Amino acid sequence: MSVTPNELTDQVALVTGASSGIGEATAEALAANGASVALAARREDDLEALADRIESEGGDALVVPTDVTDEDQVENMIETTHEELGRLDILVNNAGVMLLERVDEASPENFRQMAEVNLLGLMNATHAALPIMQEQGEGHIVNLSSVAGRKAIPGSSAYNATKFGVNGFTEALRQEVTGEDAIRTTLIEPGAVDTELPEHIPSDDQQDGIQGMMESMAPLTGEDIARSILYAVTQPAHVDVNEILIRPTEQEL
Ligand SMILES: NC(=O)c1ccc[n+]([C@@H]2O[C@H](COP(=O)([O-])OP(=O)(O)OC[C@H]3O[C@@H](n4cnc5c(N)ncnc54)[C@H](OP(=O)(O)O)[C@@H]3O)[C@@H](O)[C@H]2O)c1
Repeated sequence: MSVTPNELTDQVALVTGASSGIGEATAEALAANGASVALAARREDDLEALADRIESEGGDALVVPTDVTDEDQVENMIETTHEELGRLDILVNNAGVMLLERVDEASPENFRQMAEVNLLGLMNATHAALPIMQEQGEGHIVNLSSVAGRKAIPGSSAYNATKFGVNGFTEALRQEVTGEDAIRTTLIEPGAVDTELPEHIPSDDQQDGIQGMMESMAPLTGEDIARSILYAVTQPAHVDVNEILIRPTEQEL
């Protein structure tokens, strides 16, 4: 059974990290299924181009330039979405960076950036969105974790720490907001996805390792992950898909 077109009509979704990769594909998929989408990231031009594409296909998009490491900007992102689009039904906390380095070679600045984007940004966006969803009596928070949120490997320690953190945060949140609040939570844990994420890796060795892994198999695409998110957010209200672990068929670890 496939998703019914326009199943998300009258719903408002906010996607962070919408300027590329998984976030861009997810925003397009949500809009194609009827949701009005707010697009957040730092690269405003890329968000504008995506909004134009969504609107040219009959969708509804709002650009909200945001650096998720800035608490005030995160609050403004949530408020602007709510005020301009009237609701907030789905929050996709997708913005992320993966600055792989061994601990003994790592820069504390990269530790900080990963913690602030991958974990604190997601926590602050969730914190700002919850009162709106509680007032509405419904809502859905989709958090991007990773296989790295379940399996720690050398060279990935700080990234692992942020994604293990996302898993812990999301499970505790689920228990807090399930029931009376009727807010759903979904953790998405992709394996290797072909996006620009590895381009920012500071260590040549780590960068080569990831590129080699990508070339050794058919990796997932942003669209593959967007379909899994669409699956979760188009279930009937009484169905809460809590966790989706999705690897390329050829990925072993
Ligand atoms: N690719 C994979 O193999 C893979 C696997 C598992 C999980 N994931 C997770 O999936 C998510 C999306 O990654 P991707 O693969 O699609 O990578 P990507 O193409 O590099 O996208 C990352 C997004 O995060 C945004 N971002 C980074 N720093 C930000 C900041 N300070 N404020 C706001 N937005 C920020 C970027 O936008 P701007 O630069 O415009 O701000 C970009 O839109 C991440 O959480 C990542 O950890 C990816």
